[in-house]
Amino acid sequence: MHLSTTLTLGGLLFVLPATLGAATGIDAHPRRSRHVRHGQYARDVDSSSVASVIGAVNALQSGVARELADRSDKVGQALYVDGGAAAITTSTETVYVTQTVTQAFCPTQTAQDGAIQVSAASPSTLTSNGPTSNTFVASSSDPNPIDTFVSTSSTADSASSSDLASSSGPIDTFVSATSDSIQNGPISLTSTSSPVHDAGLITTSASLAAPTSIGSDQGGASTLTPTIPASTPQITETINPSTSSKTKLVFAHFMVGIVSTYQASDWAKDMNLAKSKGIDGFALNIGVDDYSQKQLDLAYSAAEQISGGFDLFISFDFNWYKISQTAEVATMLKRYVDKPNQLKVDGKPFVSSFIGDGFDWSAAASQVGQELYAVPYFQPTADNANNAGLSGLFSWAAWPGQLDNQPVNASMTDSRDQTYLGVTQPAGKTYMAPVSSWFSTHFGPEVSYSKNWVFKSETLWKDRWDEILSMGDQLDFLEIVTWNDYGESHYIGPVDTPHTDDGSSKWSKGLDHTAMLDFAVPYIKAFKAGQKEPIVEQDTLTYWHRPHLRSASCDATDICNAPPTGHDFLSDTVFVATMTKAGGTVKVISGSNAPFTQQVAAGVQMIEIPMGVGKQSFEFTTSGGGSVNGDSSIEVSADCWNGIYNFNYHSGTITTGA
Ligand SMILES: *[C@@H]1O[C@H](CO)[C@@H](O)[C@H](O)[C@H]1NC(C)=O
Repeated sequence: MHLSTTLTLGGLLFVLPATLGAATGIDAHPRRSRHVRHGQYARDVDSSSVASVIGAVNALQSGVARELADRSDKVGQALYVDGGAAAITTSTETVYVTQTVTQAFCPTQTAQDGAIQVSAASPSTLTSNGPTSNTFVASSSDPNPIDTFVSTSSTADSASSSDLASSSGPIDTFVSATSDSIQNGPISLTSTSSPVHDAGLITTSASLAAPTSIGSDQGGASTLTPTIPASTPQITETINPSTSSKTKLVFAHFMVGIVSTYQASDWAKDMNLAKSKGIDGFALNIGVDDYSQKQLDLAYSAAEQISGGFDLFISFDFNWYKISQTAEVATMLKRYVDKPNQLKVDGKPFVSSFIGDGFDWSAAASQVGQELYAVPYFQPTADNANNAGLSGLFSWAAWPGQLDNQPVNASMTDSRDQTYLGVTQPAGKTYMAPVSSWFSTHFGPEVSYSKNWVFKSETLWKDRWDEILSMGDQLDFLEIVTWNDYGESHYIGPVDTPHTDDGSSKWSKGLDHTAMLDFAVPYIKAFKAGQKEPIVEQDTLTYWHRPHLRSASCDATDICNAPPTGHDFLSDTVFVATMTKAGGTVKVISGSNAPFTQQVAAGVQMIEIPMGVGKQSFEFTTSGGGSVNGDSSIEVSADCWNGIYNFNYHSGTITTGA
């Protein structure tokens, strides 16, 4: 629940960043994750006037208010009202919100058209006009587009075929075939409800050679270890780390803000895992933490030891940096641009950003003392594409609904990619495309950056990789979003690392995503080879599922007292992707549901199975002769996850090792 209070005074509009009723202490991790708040208040406002407003409404705990108060540069004009003294001060602000709108109460809706919706603690002193957009006024000197998240290109995508009948109904399976399978003819959609399921019996010597070390997890079920075994798909090619010339490269976005406690060995572990799956480097996201430099030092040093090379570049987070901070950015860059593992493209150090439209990368390059290959996440405008200080643009639009920050009941499309390509290609610039597996976030009023929604991402990982391959000849660089952002559930790196907890462990602990790395291997190989179809060299089954049914009712105990917005677009489904050279047979027992068997063709196939409560068991027999089985380490529950809604997912891989 939230209120949007808009004040009208003197013809100027203003949305008051007001407070939550339950204002408590300042969050203990003020810089946990850059995705703490994907909102940028790109224009800064007069801090004293904001502070007075904040004070008037007792809003210091509001993330919006605090962020505004943190800013000191005045860039434009908007009206602020001091409710107590009726004094009027003016300052101007443009607000970019890409992912997060901070609200007083656990938001279940996100703002659109730039309005930051907040609740007012003292609404009686204010005149409310109700929700409105256009609540922020851009100054004409502002080089940035103000309306940054109105989609001009996103339309309702064709609905995915993924929504299934309820788990109690008949098994109703859809197989989305890649053209690989199309070459092999249509897939027969056989549904088998075999009562004589021989779970656990099929194992071959190849199957258990390494991959399925059995552990014990919740409920004592025998489990597949989430640790990716050595025999899972790997890429061992070698790329010279620092001399790339627009060869096709894949990076993963790494949140330095949550690894203040990392040692060199922790860095090396992450880098080796990423490298083994074909990821060429990390985009090191930094805010303005005092430990950024220490951790960058460790990262650049650790990368030197990675066999085959590992590229690094900094991705400055302009949630935290100000666009006026050219010197600060240049100083940080200078320390690393000549390190052996600094990614260079066309001889220039590569650098990126999270937002920051209007930052002067030419000026930064001058201060660094050499040209930069800057590919920031800026808006897809011709001005940005033609900006001489930029070599390309990066997009953050990795999820359906991301543009408006509004969950939609639709699949991912490449429409935003086309918008970027539409400006970068005429300008002769590069475009770096995002790839992500999921988005679910569930921060309640216990933190200042409350946010509570899920983007429909169930088959996103496959859908997006297929899109990437179809656009492959227009793309040089990919950035997987992300390696380790647990707060928004789009991490694909390990969750059991010594990172600091921003509160997201409530829904990420124990939910492993590294199987998605295995899934990506054939796609990364194909992307780099310039091929349109995934290159499957190892028979692999990857599965993923949520930890509880959608029907779980947790309002009473949940930190938001509400499920995330968009949860009703999800289905209770177990997703299985097979990657085989010659096809095979998949058996799944999802809880108490009837056993399910499906033959799969070669290539990459998706199977969607109604999700039942209980243990999730998988068997995979390939035409090549390998067979393996294993259980998910997470059992599906009909109830809440430790009292809360958890729309994150868990994944696993089983591979025949063949
Ligand atoms: C989402 O779309 C699917 C497919 O069109 C449909 O079956 C389902 O009812 C929709 N869900 C909601 C909540 O609108």
